Amino acid sequence: MKANYYYFAKRAQKRCSFPLILISIFALVLFLKLISSLFFTTFSNNSDTNPLGDALRKSYPFPELPRFAYLISGSKGDSGKLKRLLQAVYHPRNSYLLHLDLEASDDERLELAKFVKSEAVIREFRSVMVVGKANLVTLKGPTTISSLLHGVAILLKQAPNWDWFINLSASDYPLMPQDDILHIFSFLPRDLNFLEHTSDLGWKEFQRARPIIIDSGLYHVKKSGVFWAKEKRSIPASFKLFTGSTGVVLTRSFLEFCIWGWDNLPRTLLLYYTNFLSSHEGYFHTLLCNHKDYQNTTVNHDLHYVRWDEPRKENPTNLTIEHFDDMVQSGAVFGHRFGHDSRILDKIDKEILRRSAGLFVPGGWCLGNPGSGKDPCIIYGNPDVIKPSERAKRLEALVMKLLDSENFRSKQCK
Ligand SMILES: *[C@@H]1O[C@H](CO)[C@@H](O)[C@H](O)[C@H]1NC(C)=O
Ligand SMILES: *[C@@H]1O[C@H](CO)[C@@H](O)[C@H](O)[C@H]1NC(C)=O
Ligand SMILES: *[C@@H]1O[C@H](CO)[C@@H](O)[C@H](O)[C@H]1NC(C)=O
Repeated sequence: MKANYYYFAKRAQKRCSFPLILISIFALVLFLKLISSLFFTTFSNNSDTNPLGDALRKSYPFPELPRFAYLISGSKGDSGKLKRLLQAVYHPRNSYLLHLDLEASDDERLELAKFVKSEAVIREFRSVMVVGKANLVTLKGPTTISSLLHGVAILLKQAPNWDWFINLSASDYPLMPQDDILHIFSFLPRDLNFLEHTSDLGWKEFQRARPIIIDSGLYHVKKSGVFWAKEKRSIPASFKLFTGSTGVVLTRSFLEFCIWGWDNLPRTLLLYYTNFLSSHEGYFHTLLCNHKDYQNTTVNHDLHYVRWDEPRKENPTNLTIEHFDDMVQSGAVFGHRFGHDSRILDKIDKEILRRSAGLFVPGGWCLGNPGSGKDPCIIYGNPDVIKPSERAKRLEALVMKLLDSENFRSKQCK
């Protein structure tokens, strides 16, 4: 433990310059202790078959900062929101893929691509891509999954070395700066998959698992929704169904497994879910929980803050100013979902992200002064230098709770 402590203290000096971190060192040592014991109990027994785990163990006392690969998707009229969201989650260590679906016009897509090109920082780090050949995406059809897997495949091919994949839509927004997320995730084993999941289907058995749907988006050029077959089908016997959140934070190794499909399960499930309503609420969940190599890697939380109306409606509540305090307390990384009212986003920008309109969120890589009124990231330095804020402690608390020995194993794939 001594080495870890020393390392953390050294890193803290480099990374942050506020006194709070001194107060929190004790808490973080506990955190490290928890992570290390968790890590060794999780992976020591199967480390021979887990190259990622091995690599991590070797680098263990000196955790490196991770990299994230973001897929940010929107539809017609969303390009403004996508630009703002990109600026709010941008960090030069990460990679980003923007997708405006086929409902958006070519002009809108082109305008988004021009915006990306016009940003000097993005040009320099070459870390943002825009999908040129857009997909038709039907809201509750399997085309959402195929579009997402398309994005993952592009990111695997074009964006090197990322550790986690994060899926965001135009109605999401971050609740903390990237520096905080990079900081906390640097202490985590690289094979944890975050998504809310359960095998208790409840009403979804009759609304989702039994009906058979067809997504006409698979073979039409215009969006026209899904239609239902008269027949119903039975609950699968060769695998167990899981359902959960649409938001996901998934590891690179799991997504390589999905895309390459060296085991047939990813392919079988993809075909099965082709006729499943809202298949994006279940595909990854069922896949992870039915494969022995991955079921021990799930964390039953998607790191999003989501509110539902009572009784539960089809879509989550639009988040507004009145949810602000609760949202910040939660330690969640993103909020889902935000409607047209942008006052809440302005408040998040001002009070949490310290982001000025039209600019990136300042982080350790920005050398300018955020208070000066000028863009602090015009002059930039080493992207490996991060300055976590106080918010990082909330995420730390959330992650500690999720990985607590009482919580972690007992909530996996149940
Ligand atoms: C991606 O995430 C957003 C919420 O973060 C969700 O609304 C959307 O349906 C997700 N897409 C897929 C294919 O999971
Ligand atoms: C997953 O965890 C369970 C319970 O802790 C254990 O019995 C099993 O061997 C683990 N599976 C793998 C592949 O490590
Ligand atoms: C929530 O926001 C969406 C826009 O993103 C809007 O279409 C919808 O009507 C809003 N819902 C409510 C209940 O205000």
